[in-house]
Amino acid sequence: PRVLVIHGPNLNLLGRREPNVYGSLSLDEIDRRLREKAGALGLDLEIVQTNHEGVMVETIQKAMQGYAGIVINPAAFTHYSIAVRDALAAVSVPSVEVHLSNIYTREEFRRHSVVAPVVDGQISGLGPLGYLLALEAVAAMAGEEK
Ligand code: DQA
Repeated sequence: PRVLVIHGPNLNLLGRREPNVYGSLSLDEIDRRLREKAGALGLDLEIVQTNHEGVMVETIQKAMQGYAGIVINPAAFTHYSIAVRDALAAVSVPSVEVHLSNIYTREEFRRHSVVAPVVDGQISGLGPLGYLLALEAVAAMAGEEK
């Protein structure tokens, strides 16, 4: 089964970007751990990082072409992109929303996710581990669907 991992805007700067909030691991290191976990779960991973809303929408749409699941950190788009939300609603593949930080303990504008109602679940505040748990969840949901 193929699974899409999508990282949103500014996550390419991980490790250097507000390490007190987002931790010291680079995105490459997180991706390495994801690939390792995917191997153990027997999943084929495709990982995309984009700073562009349209690219994120098109990447989500691609999941319709036989993908078993989506793990997505929409980053800032989480809070206002109806386009990203609608794309996730359009593709009927298991999906999990991930945030490195706990968005519910932060600024008011981060406490609302427009994406949350259209994904299967959300993991917020567990750092890089959240991605790995999300991958496991998507693998389990993909398995259930036959
Ligand atoms: C984030 C939280 C968002 O509010 C923020 O815009 C991000 C990263 C997280 O992973 O904690 O860029 O999605």
